[in-house]
Amino acid sequence: MKTALIVYSSNTGNTEKVAQAIRLGLEEAGLQVTVKKPETAGAVDYFDYDLVCVGSPSIQWHPTTKMDDFLKAKLDEHRKKGKIKPSAPKVSGKNALVFVTYSGPHTGLSEATPAGKYMTQFFEHLGFNIMDEWYILSEFRGNLENNTKGRMGDIRGKPSAKDLVKIKQDATALVAKI
Ligand SMILES: Cc1cc2nc3c(=O)[nH]c(=O)nc-3n(C[C@H](O)[C@H](O)[C@H](O)COP(=O)(O)O)c2cc1C
Repeated sequence: MKTALIVYSSNTGNTEKVAQAIRLGLEEAGLQVTVKKPETAGAVDYFDYDLVCVGSPSIQWHPTTKMDDFLKAKLDEHRKKGKIKPSAPKVSGKNALVFVTYSGPHTGLSEATPAGKYMTQFFEHLGFNIMDEWYILSEFRGNLENNTKGRMGDIRGKPSAKDLVKIKQDATALVAKI
């Protein structure tokens, strides 16, 4: 049975919803899925999984500090094991998916992509195949102005139930490419 690890950080619940939708989609495709937050994922070894998914909100166009600390600690660990090599040769059968929830109130998607691109590097350096980066427009909880007057328009209630169904379907479809 193929396996997946999902590590996600979430302050107000948006990224958690997306992580759970991904979990459901991967399980539907027959994967055995482990879901963790960075705080409890210290002992994981990425190389134990066929697919590693990491998700975070964009916070000032970065991942959360908890996610950043986790990614850096894991990279250090792998560096010590000699897994970071010049030219980052691809490791067969190891895949990563990065997902970012964002509200884009000021500059739109541009204030989320740096977080996603940044997170991919922690896997590309290890030779993982980056399957995709998903950017999910999400409500800015507790801030009416950012929810209604921002670059992305009225984003209240996002990700919607429909958005989450689509994410689940996309996750199921992803498994065929592993
Ligand atoms: C302090 C703070 C900073 C934020 N910075 C950004 C940002 O740089 N870019 C962006 O698109 N959204 C930004 N957001 C919005 C969040 O990324 C968005 O609402 C996200 O879905 C929250 O995810 P969560 O509910 O999983 O915590 C920010 C929100 C907060 C509270």
